[in-house]
Amino acid sequence: MSRLGGHSALVAGMILLLAGRYGGLAQPGPGPTAQGTGQPLERLELDRRIVTTVYETALLGTDIYNKGNHEGCYRLYQGCLLALESLLDHRPKLQQMVREKLTLASRLKPEEAAHVLREALDEIQNTIAPSPKGPDLKLPALWFRLGGEAAVKAIVDDFVDACVKDPKVNLSRGGKYKLDVPEIARQKRLMLELFSLLTGGPLEYSGKRNLKEAHAGMQITDAEFDAMAALLRQTLEKHKVDKREAEELLKLFEATRPVIVEVRRSKD
Ligand code: HEM
Repeated sequence: MSRLGGHSALVAGMILLLAGRYGGLAQPGPGPTAQGTGQPLERLELDRRIVTTVYETALLGTDIYNKGNHEGCYRLYQGCLLALESLLDHRPKLQQMVREKLTLASRLKPEEAAHVLREALDEIQNTIAPSPKGPDLKLPALWFRLGGEAAVKAIVDDFVDACVKDPKVNLSRGGKYKLDVPEIARQKRLMLELFSLLTGGPLEYSGKRNLKEAHAGMQITDAEFDAMAALLRQTLEKHKVDKREAEELLKLFEATRPVIVEVRRSKD
C-alpha cells in the first residue's frame, strides 16, 4: 500500500501560520458572517479558516489512510471539499479546480480518489498561502540530518524535562495533569514520534488523538507556547544542532501553534 506522507500536512502547518500573518485579501464580500456580529467575515479571516480546515482534514485523512481505510479518507476529503467549495467563490479558479477533482474522484477507486482529493487540498493551501521557499529536495529528510533516532531522542528527552520544570510553560496546567515518571515517559515517546512525523523520520505516531484534541480546553496561551519554543531553541543549542536544521525544526514546531494555542494574544 502506498502511504500518504505527513510531510505536506506539515508544510501546510507552516503555510497556515503564514496565512494568518501575511496571506489573503482584505476586502469584505458576501458570504459567511463573523460570529455573533452579523458582519461579513473579512477575506483574510475566511482564508485563514479555510486553510485551518484543510490542514486539520489533511492530518486526519493521512492518519485514516495510513491505517488502511482508503474509503474513509476519501469520504473525509470529499465532505471537506464539498463544504469548502461554496466558500471559495472569491477564488473562482480554486473553486473550479475543486469541482473538477470531486467529479474525477467520484469515478475512481477510493485509494486513487483519496490521492486526487488530497491534491485538491494541497492546492488550496499552496494557493492561499504559498510557502516562500519550498523544502530542498536534494537534502535528506530533517530527521536524518538531525542524527536519526538516538540524536532526536536525546533532544526530546532534554526538551520535555525542561518543559516540565518551567512554570512559564505550565505543562501540568496548575497541577491538573499528574506529571509522574510514567506520564513524562509517555509524553517523551509521543513527542519523539511526533518529531519523526514532522521531520520525515520512520517512527509511526501512536497517539490516539490529534494535537488539537489532546490540548482542547487547556486554555494554552501564546506566551506559554513562546516559552516552550524558547526551550526547544535552547535545547537545540545545547545539543549543538546546526543552525539550518535547528531553524527548520523550530519552524515545524511553530506551525503547530494554531492547533495548540486557545488564548491568542491580541493583535494590538
Ligand atoms: C505550552 C504549551 C503546551 C502545554 C501546556 C501542553 C500540555 C500538555 C498536556 C497537559 C498533555 C497531556 C494531556 C493528557 O494526558 O490528556 C499534553 C499532551 C501532548 N502534547 Fe502538549 N502541551 C503544550 C504544547 C505542545 C506542543 C507545542 C506540542 C507539539 C509540537 C505538544 C505535543 C503533545 C503531545 C504529542 C501530547 C500527547 C498527546 C496524547 O496524549 O495523545 N504539546 N500536552
